[in-house]
Amino acid sequence: MGNEEYAWIHIVALLCLCDSSASQLSYSISEEANKGTVVGNIAKDLHLNVQYLETRDLSIVSSYSKKYFDVNLRTGNLFVDERIDREEICPNTAQCSLRIQAVLSNPMNVHRIEVSVLDVNDNSPEFIEQSYSLNISESMSPGERYLLPIAVDADIGSNSVKTYKLSQNEYFSLDVQSGGEHGVSAELVLQKALDREKQPVLKLILTAVDGGNSARSGTLQINVNVIDANDNTPIFSKSLYKIRVRENMAQGTVIIKLNATDLDEGMNSKILYSFIKRGNIDPSNMFDLNSETGEITVKGTLDYEETSAYEVRVQAMDQGTSPRSAHAKLLIEIIDVNDNAPEISVTSLMTPVKEDAEQGTIVALVTVSDKDGGNNGVTNCKVVGSVPFKLKSNYKNDYSLVVDGPLDRENTSLYNVTITATDEGSPPLSSIRVITVHVSDVNDNAPRFMEPVIHVYVKENSAIGSVISTIHAFDPDLDSNAKLTYKLLDNIVSLQSFNYEELKTFQFKVQATDSGVPPLSSNVTVNVLILDENDNNPTILAPYSEHGSVNSESIPYSAEAGYFVAKIRAVDADSGYNALLSYHLSEPKGNNLFRIGTSTGEIRTKRRMSDNDLKTHPLVVLVSDNGEPSLSATVSIDVVVVESTADIQTQFRHVPIKEESFSDLNLYLLIAIVSVSVIFLLSLISLIAVRCHRTDGSFSRYSAPMITTHPDGSWSYSKSTQQYDVCFSSDTLKSDVVVFPRTNSDFTQQRQGRPSVLNASSPQLYFCGRTYLRINDR
Ligand SMILES: *[C@@H]1O[C@H](CO)[C@@H](O)[C@H](O)[C@H]1NC(C)=O
Ligand SMILES: *[C@@H]1O[C@H](CO)[C@@H](O)[C@H](O)[C@H]1NC(C)=O
Ligand SMILES: *[C@@H]1O[C@H](CO)[C@@H](O)[C@H](O)[C@H]1NC(C)=O
Ligand SMILES: *[C@@H]1O[C@H](CO)[C@@H](O)[C@H](O)[C@H]1NC(C)=O
Ligand SMILES: *[C@@H]1O[C@H](CO)[C@@H](O)[C@H](O)[C@H]1NC(C)=O
Repeated sequence: MGNEEYAWIHIVALLCLCDSSASQLSYSISEEANKGTVVGNIAKDLHLNVQYLETRDLSIVSSYSKKYFDVNLRTGNLFVDERIDREEICPNTAQCSLRIQAVLSNPMNVHRIEVSVLDVNDNSPEFIEQSYSLNISESMSPGERYLLPIAVDADIGSNSVKTYKLSQNEYFSLDVQSGGEHGVSAELVLQKALDREKQPVLKLILTAVDGGNSARSGTLQINVNVIDANDNTPIFSKSLYKIRVRENMAQGTVIIKLNATDLDEGMNSKILYSFIKRGNIDPSNMFDLNSETGEITVKGTLDYEETSAYEVRVQAMDQGTSPRSAHAKLLIEIIDVNDNAPEISVTSLMTPVKEDAEQGTIVALVTVSDKDGGNNGVTNCKVVGSVPFKLKSNYKNDYSLVVDGPLDRENTSLYNVTITATDEGSPPLSSIRVITVHVSDVNDNAPRFMEPVIHVYVKENSAIGSVISTIHAFDPDLDSNAKLTYKLLDNIVSLQSFNYEELKTFQFKVQATDSGVPPLSSNVTVNVLILDENDNNPTILAPYSEHGSVNSESIPYSAEAGYFVAKIRAVDADSGYNALLSYHLSEPKGNNLFRIGTSTGEIRTKRRMSDNDLKTHPLVVLVSDNGEPSLSATVSIDVVVVESTADIQTQFRHVPIKEESFSDLNLYLLIAIVSVSVIFLLSLISLIAVRCHRTDGSFSRYSAPMITTHPDGSWSYSKSTQQYDVCFSSDTLKSDVVVFPRTNSDFTQQRQGRPSVLNASSPQLYFCGRTYLRINDR
């Protein structure tokens, strides 16, 4: 404190003394005065002699806890003994004074002293908060005001807060309002719109300054949090996404991840992706879009052949209260994979094909297609296997299936023509198509007989109308080309032999004709062999005659045993066994005088005559053949016994005596039987051998019995002329050749006991014409 100030204090103290007789002293002192600073001279102001101060025991008393002042007893000066803090002694008051007392003794005297404490700017403005935060939306417009906290200063008056300052920034200014009891306040004024995306937090410093001589200040950090507004639109990383995806991509495969960003924060930047449906194209049929991640996955079956590219619109939308959205285009190109086999289609099929079709005749038109593109769709086509067909290329993928070789329906009536088409993809795919080509019949086959000559064996006496054989021809063609009719070609030529030791045969020709256009025909020669039947009785030869007329022979009474009596001769018109005769004495029964040679027919005596014997012996001789049933003839001879040999007719007396010998005739007959039988057997065996591999069992059934029961030799009957006529009846399709012997005997009742008609159920016979062969005479 300077001298001038010190002088000023004195003047005030003097004025106080003068003004009142009461002993009250008033001083003033600046707070925070140094210790020892003299406040005033009490002795002088109380008019006390300094010399007595000590003796009067001057002391300073106060009710304060601190002893702010003390007095110098030598000089009477009141001085600061303790630091005085105005703000501590009287906070929040403008006037501040300390009241103390000066006490004297001898005599006791008390003087009140009031020391005004003067303020000194010893306190800085202070903010209560450490820092201050403000949330300001970036959408706020300039001019908006925000009240700021105030600073406090313990000092008073001009030493208290006088003004505020704001740190340098581009967004805010400070509006300071002074005045009023409570000093100054400050407001932030928005000068320029905030941008969270540029600067999300602003740090400002607010400084409060007091009005003291040497001004003091305090600061506060102000944090301005810029609150996000949905002021940014999402932005796709690309405006056009292009991807290439192989077709047949597995479902669920991620093909692309969309990426849109939003500079905002929170929900304002949370993006949800979606497809935009445009027109009737709905991409969500084929693809899935994860709305959160933006991943697009395959959902349907991608088929290049169906759709080779997709143009999809996608949207990204933020989730702010007033959402903003962005769009992008997505081009998905589908890459072809060789997943389609070629398709073979037959556009027209000309089937059946005639078996005489020439090479190059078109059978079918074939078109090959492949849905794939590029090499995957290039196809090659060919016929598999060895068939008389080939493919002829017309245009790029059009082919004709043409005949490439001779066709023969009789060998192959149906072809399964296999066509393969292979594309050039890798790996290549191929497909197969089978075209069934029917070959239609052309009358290119004449009817065929099993063999050029057919031998037919006919028993004589066969009944009229009985079927003796069936001939048939076979035509490998079809339908009317194989529908056969039969006719007899020429007159029957009889090959009759009059030699009774040979077979009787005749032959004729049958022609089989099919119904094709033009018709084809072929001939067969039918050889008919007639077999003997036992249909003739033995005939007694002269001089004897058949039963009924009386023949007689005489023998002498003296005849020895074995005497030749007579010889019976007979012939049989049949042949073979049917003509082999045997002789028996049928009467009288129990005859013991005569016997007859069974094969010779010679009647001889068995013993000498006796007187007891009759003079006349009537004999009946039975001549029977070996046929079955056997036929016979009888002859009666009366043998008369005479006394002298002269009476005896002697025609046959000199016949050789040899008993049971064969007659010449019978011997020849037997030789003939044996030789012809052997020849016949051989020819039959060879015939059977030729036929036995055939399936025509009916014929062998028919012929087999002939071997065993007809080892026949000859025709012994002597019919002069034989006439045959053949009647031919075309009886629908099923026909047989039938030979009618003109006789009343029933052929089926012959001893074979089976009909000679061939089994009509034999399938081959149904193709035969029925021919009735009538034998006119026998
Ligand atoms: C500012 O916002 C934050 C959250 O955003 C909140 O915690 C804080 O209390 C807010 N401050 C004021 C002063 O509103
Ligand atoms: C999206 O793109 C931004 C930059 O373009 C990148 O930083 C971010 O990682 C991407 N997000 C995804 C999920 O790929
Ligand atoms: C019949 O066809 C076969 C193949 O199908 C062939 O091998 C044979 O030679 C043909 N026969 C005739 C006679 O054409
Ligand atoms: C042709 O194909 C048909 C049907 O698959 C079959 O029934 C027939 O036997 C085949 N023919 C030939 C000759 O392969
Ligand atoms: C069949 O016989 C007839 C008459 O004898 C003859 O004209 C024809 O040429 C013969 N046919 C055959 C194929 O031999």
